[in-house]
Amino acid sequence: MQVTSLRYDVILFDLDGTLTDSYPGVTGSVKAAIDGMGLDRPDLETLRSFMGPPLSESFKRVYGQLTQEEVDHCIALYRDDFTVNGIYNNRVYTGIPHLLRRLKAMDVTCVVATSKPTVYARRVLEYFGLLEMFDAVIGVELDEREHDKADVVRAALPAHYRRAAMVGDRHYDMRAAKANNIDAIGVLYGYGDRAELIETGADIIAEDVPALARMLCGDSAASEGLFITVEGLDGAGKTTQMPLLAKRLERMGFEVVTTREPGGTPLSEWISERLKDTANTGMAAETETYLFAASRAQHVREVIAPALARGAVVISDRFVDSSAAYQGGGRELGLRRVQQINEMAVSVCIPDLTLLLMVDLQTALLRRGSATRLDRIERAGEAFFTRVYDAFVQIGREEPDRVKFIDASADVKAVTQEVQSLVETALRAHLLSTPDKRPEPSAADSED
Ligand code: TMP
Repeated sequence: MQVTSLRYDVILFDLDGTLTDSYPGVTGSVKAAIDGMGLDRPDLETLRSFMGPPLSESFKRVYGQLTQEEVDHCIALYRDDFTVNGIYNNRVYTGIPHLLRRLKAMDVTCVVATSKPTVYARRVLEYFGLLEMFDAVIGVELDEREHDKADVVRAALPAHYRRAAMVGDRHYDMRAAKANNIDAIGVLYGYGDRAELIETGADIIAEDVPALARMLCGDSAASEGLFITVEGLDGAGKTTQMPLLAKRLERMGFEVVTTREPGGTPLSEWISERLKDTANTGMAAETETYLFAASRAQHVREVIAPALARGAVVISDRFVDSSAAYQGGGRELGLRRVQQINEMAVSVCIPDLTLLLMVDLQTALLRRGSATRLDRIERAGEAFFTRVYDAFVQIGREEPDRVKFIDASADVKAVTQEVQSLVETALRAHLLSTPDKRPEPSAADSED
């Protein structure tokens, strides 16, 4: 069936295998319980079959000899491991946060209906910044005794609704939907398969998250992403922090595009080489400014704007604030003038959040001095870098909502934590805001 947007006012989501890929965490804790009981480890396929059903059902199915008391003990061992390790050994499927954001903007009531204990489900969602995206989280009691998913679904459905659906990856979800007379939407990226879902009543099947988003939201809903820039003097630790941040955001279910300036596209890299070439000693400050802006214009149109339009989180190592600081401050062309020169290059791609990694000037100069080959810009003297430093401070003070100072002289772990906490706060606000498509960069600039 070819489906474009289905209009639901209530959507229930299964958690494991539908919103999050909890395989490593769940199976790791199952193994811990099996080892703790001195049972034989099952093969991979049997281990995989623990994904979805209530735990007690799985332990009984796989280890038929166990008494109810022993099954309860298995679950207790599982829980000991799961609360410490398993629960966080998990990731959100890519695209889920944006799907939820779009549903929220369409006023759809979103509820989690899971066979997991409610406390764990809430903790997982909180850990990934998704708890606020749901109107309710309905799971089971902590003892994880056998239960019927249909009861969970019944409890999760509001008293009144027009049209509701249950989205899930296993036959339990499809059956529970049918038992409650609501639509059953099966997803194939989890732990079930097509035959299992169809045989148990799936009305529609979604191959992946984008297909699910198209079914639930249609193609029309805009889905713009979040633009984060990382700024600071060379040696502030940008290159250490950026991959760590990207990894965390990917686990949170975002498509992440990391890029850098000057560069990010072949043409921009070509311009960057001219800028850095120590043979170009006579380059005027104005030429330098326009070349950085030209490189940026290409970068915005070729990489940043398309990624944001897809709903990705873009993290750029340096952006327009570097021009303001280095050319405006360092080369003394003035912050305002350099910002104005860059307006056409930046267009609508204004950063939502800028992380300004600050180390004191002497530390930065020391780190820079130890580099084997300094490029043309790095060869500028101490007075130049003092002005760059001061300009960064000024930029941060002028735009405190967008630009956040981070003490990058602290140890790497502390800096990582601060970076992640600032980004997660921005992401929460972003997810709760209404999707609002950024216009195309070039179209927005024509003034005829
Ligand atoms: P990097 O590739 O080693 O980061 O070198 C880029 C250098 O260019 C760095 O010293 C900062 C400088 N720069 C500017 O002067 N203006 C700009 O707009 C950008 C993006 C970088």
